Order: sequence, then C-alpha cells, then structure tokens
Amino acid sequence: MKKEKILLPKDPSNVKRPWLWIGTWSMGGEGFGIHDERESMRVLESAVEKGIRHFDTAGFYAHGRSEELLRKVISGRREEFFVSSKGGLVWEGRRVEHRASPKKLGNQLHETLERLNVGYLDLYQLHWPDTEIPVRESIDALKELQGKELIRYWGIGNLTAKQIKENLKEEKNVPHQVHFNPIRNSQGVLDEGKEHCINCVITPLEQGLLGSGKSSRGGEAISSKDIRNRNPYFSNPNVLKWNKRLDELCHERSRAKVSMVMTWICAQRHVHAIIPGPRKMEQLDEIMNALSFMEKNELVEQDKADAILSLERAKNYVPRDIWRHLDKGPLL
Ligand SMILES: NC(=O)c1ccc[n+]([C@@H]2O[C@H](COP(=O)([O-])OP(=O)(O)OC[C@H]3O[C@@H](n4cnc5c(N)ncnc54)[C@H](OP(=O)(O)O)[C@@H]3O)[C@@H](O)[C@H]2O)c1
Repeated sequence: MKKEKILLPKDPSNVKRPWLWIGTWSMGGEGFGIHDERESMRVLESAVEKGIRHFDTAGFYAHGRSEELLRKVISGRREEFFVSSKGGLVWEGRRVEHRASPKKLGNQLHETLERLNVGYLDLYQLHWPDTEIPVRESIDALKELQGKELIRYWGIGNLTAKQIKENLKEEKNVPHQVHFNPIRNSQGVLDEGKEHCINCVITPLEQGLLGSGKSSRGGEAISSKDIRNRNPYFSNPNVLKWNKRLDELCHERSRAKVSMVMTWICAQRHVHAIIPGPRKMEQLDEIMNALSFMEKNELVEQDKADAILSLERAKNYVPRDIWRHLDKGPLL
C-alpha cells in the first residue's frame, strides 16, 4: 500500500496490519439481537493480542456504550492505539437525527473524549452528511478541532461520488468510510476517492449476510426488533438467492466464506482499509483466518500499490466460480 494511504497511531511499534481495523458498532449490544458484552470484551482484548491497534467507534453506537467498552482496552497505553470515532448522528428518543453543525460536532467530540477517557482522538469523522448543513461547513469544523489538537486527523463518511467531487477538490488522502462489498458494489465512490481519500470499507460483511452464522440467512433469522430489519438487503429475494448460491459454492470448494469475501474486497482497486465488526470470538477467528489466507498465499501488496491485495494473485487463489459470483453480485 502507498505510504500516504496508511494511518498509524502515535506509537506504531506494535502495529502489524494498519489496513485492518475492528469496528465496535454491534459490540455495544443495541439493535443486533441477543448479545453478550463479556464476549465482545474478549473479542477486543483478543484482537489486541493478535496485533490489531486500529479501532473504529462512534458516539452514536449503542448510546455511547461501544466507546465505553473501547476505553477499557486502550486505558494505560493510549499512544499504541489508533482510535477513530465519529460525530454528526445522534439519538433523539428513539429517532436517529443528523446534527453536524460546528457547535454540535464540537460538543459531541467532547462527550466522546470523556467516554473514551482520552485527551485526543487519532481520527474524528463526519458520520453522515447532514442535509441541513453544507458538508464543507462540517469539514471546516473538523479542521478547527484538529487545529486545537483534539484530533490528529479528520475524516468523513458516506459521501456520494458527487459529494466527494464537490467538497474534496482541494484535499488529499482524507479518510472516508465507504459502504462497499459484493452486494453493495459502490466502486464508483472508491474510484472518485482515489486521490482525495483514504477509502476505509465499512460493513464489509453486509451486517452478517456475508458471514457464515445465523444472520447470513437474512430477515427470517433475526428478531423483529433487530435494526437489520431496516436493511433492505435482508429481505431482498435476489440478494438472498445470490447469497445462498455463494454459500453453496464455498461449501463445494471447501472455502471459508468470510475469507473469500474479505479477499475479494481487499483486492478491489482503491480499497485502503477494511473495518469488519465482529462481536463473537468465532467471528474474530474467521477474520484472522482470512488474514492467514491472504498472507500465506502472499496476496498482500507492497508499498507502491493502490489496493491492499494484488488482484491478479487473489484471482489465482480464489476458485474461479466463487470469484465470478462475487464479481457479479446480486441482481438489484
Ligand atoms: N460510518 C458509518 O456510517 C458506518 C456504518 C456502518 C458501519 N461502520 C463501521 O464499520 C464496522 C463494521 O460494520 P458493520 O458492523 O455494519 O457490519 P459487518 O462487519 O459487515 O457485520 C457485522 C455483523 O455481522 C455478523 N458477522 C458474522 N460473521 C462475522 C465475522 N466473521 N466478522 C464480523 N461480523 C460477522 C455479526 O452479527 P451476528 O452476530 O448477528 O451474526 C456482526 O454484528 C462498524 O462496527 C463500524 O465501526 C461505519
């Protein structure tokens, strides 16, 4: 990976793979069905043991609970970690509201610093653009917070290709959280961010559909209160049919589905980081197995490339029918 696309903590000595971050949304235990917080803590601690130092969270996640869990992990060794959080989305009762004015972003950052018990964040991002506030105004607010040394880097999330073009003309290598995977193929957004952004892929397993557990069966397998009922892919017959076929192909070829999906994502052009959100130990194991697959087969690119993995080599190691199926994606 090109050097300018890599983000590191102040003390990078324990970082093994700066392109793999762990997301903490579902770890807060709200909206994802039955949850065991102690297990999520084990996931965080085990990820650290395995050399992961990049963690993504947000004040919005589980009303701040995800940030509070992360605090326990980074406590006493702050500089080893790259802590990324976000502002601009808040809970108003049971409703989600956009609040990304300069004042609100500043207030939310202070609350986040308090919950994490830290003096600075490595990265603070606009969670989603606020339709009432021009993106540029939110960006200027983030830059001001950076000027006050409360954050090392500022970033953005969920911009369209058009919004990138309009708002980041003058910028280079701004971290951008992009929803991208074989179901949600937003390659156009990654392409637009080639120069301007560090493209960080969020929701790589489409909230579990692309995993191997119960949630991979879609809406029928989750409770009526699960927030994933709002994800249209969980009830889309074409997505579910395509996903079932992916399960069959992986079974026929004795390949781990998570390894295949993560390899496909990391080999796409202009993917600079990937942020899966495991909340159970077996899910972290699946991610570590995917890394072993990439590393054992020497798929990881060297310094000059603009992707995590070599596309050419990845295609050689993923069975052709699985690769074609991932490339094609569901009919949407
Ligand atoms: N900026 C933004 O707007 C934004 C939006 C979304 C996410 N994010 C970031 O991206 C991270 C990941 O996204 P995500 O949580 O939406 O989706 P994800 O990583 O695609 O899926 C997470 C869910 O998938 C299931 N799963 C099954 N196998 C898994 C495995 N091996 N590894 C991980 N998960 C597995 C788990 O649910 P079950 O246990 O129910 O099976 C888990 O809660 C978040 O934690 C957050 O940091 C940012």
